[in-house]
Amino acid sequence: MDPGDLVLRGGRVFDPAAQRPIDQAADVRITNGRIVEIGRGLVAPRIIDVRDLWIVPGLIDLHVHLREPGQEYKEDIETGTRAAAAGGFTTVCCMPNTKPVNDQRAITELMVRRAREVGAVRVRPIGAITQGLEGKSLADIAEMKEAGIVAISDDGRPVMNAGLLRRAFEYARTFDLPLVQHAEDLDLAEGGAMNEGAVSTRIGIKGQPACAESSMVARDLEIVEWTGARYHVAHVSTARTAALVRDAKRRGLPVTCEVTPHHLALTDEACSHYDTRTKVMPPLRTAADQEALLEALADGTIDAIATDHAPHSPVEKDVEFECAAPGMLGLETALPIILDFVRMGTLDERRAIAALTGGPARTFGLPGGTLAVGAVADITVIDPERPLTLTADSISSKSKNSPFLGQTLAGRAVLTLLEGRSVYDLDGRIK
Ligand code: DOR
Ligand code: ZN
Repeated sequence: MDPGDLVLRGGRVFDPAAQRPIDQAADVRITNGRIVEIGRGLVAPRIIDVRDLWIVPGLIDLHVHLREPGQEYKEDIETGTRAAAAGGFTTVCCMPNTKPVNDQRAITELMVRRAREVGAVRVRPIGAITQGLEGKSLADIAEMKEAGIVAISDDGRPVMNAGLLRRAFEYARTFDLPLVQHAEDLDLAEGGAMNEGAVSTRIGIKGQPACAESSMVARDLEIVEWTGARYHVAHVSTARTAALVRDAKRRGLPVTCEVTPHHLALTDEACSHYDTRTKVMPPLRTAADQEALLEALADGTIDAIATDHAPHSPVEKDVEFECAAPGMLGLETALPIILDFVRMGTLDERRAIAALTGGPARTFGLPGGTLAVGAVADITVIDPERPLTLTADSISSKSKNSPFLGQTLAGRAVLTLLEGRSVYDLDGRIK
């Protein structure tokens, strides 16, 4: 399909994060990959009926693991971006814990090139903070920035050394890059495989306390105040961390954070049956944490919903809980999980969509995340009621490690456009 004139007709045009928020029944006209008009009765050579559906900016995920290079048996850029398109995402930011690690220009360039060759959606790499993610010396941040990284992170591991973190902040500030912390004090975590609390005690799995996360965030915020650098907390999982970020924002610090759909939807009770698909880092927490995260998302303390899409093969997952690799798939279930909160009335639909579009775009300073006239036509059409039964066959991702497997969820992307071109079309609307 060429990116010529196309009209999406009669949808709910919904862009709650725009400077002037949009929520109206209208048509969207796209020409040469851009949104050129929003209004009624628009015409074009091709007209797609999207009545009863939502037209939103293409979703943006700040946190995915695409596993290429090096672990293509779990996922690669082609399958990972196909899963993204199926989930309604048009931009994904990929973490550097590949093999080799994305800690230098050559690896960033490789990711960018592979994404251009085989990627279904936009891929924006995140560079490592330290060489080899070893926490010892800084990576080649300047070179990676030239090659296209949008942030730096040692995700999967925290930066434990405060002195090194200070230098990393100073570097990041020079290049105006956000530093993304995987907040987990390893001395407090002591290798705990799940949340430390009543459930871990009952089932006899060593836990890690909530303060392993929040104490590192508290420390980091002191260094943010000192350096003035941009700080982004990955996958916030505890009530205390959310409270710290809320307070830091009130004080005007350049701080942002994200939450995953799984930390909103599940608690440590899900680990009761030793299902390794529920093992993630940070671990699933308590109902009180879950409630605090929803509140923080509602009041804008949390800027973005990010999946932490973490594909693993049976080799890493079909083992004892303690030995299993942490992580679960996220790209294809994020939207239905979040829309479920909207249906239940526990999350405002404007906040839900904002945190998947304009919120993440602003957080990393990415283009997109808007339906403004003139913007690139990265657009997702959502059917808020359409069921999705998650089966191994229906998953586009190479790996199948989702605790939602076998469940029927509702609300999903039915059409994903990248620069006006279809990259996912559930019902074959675009001929
Ligand atoms: O659950 C997780 N999986 N947390 C991380 O921080 C890393 C990720 C992975 O790479 O599998
Ligand atoms: Zn992480």
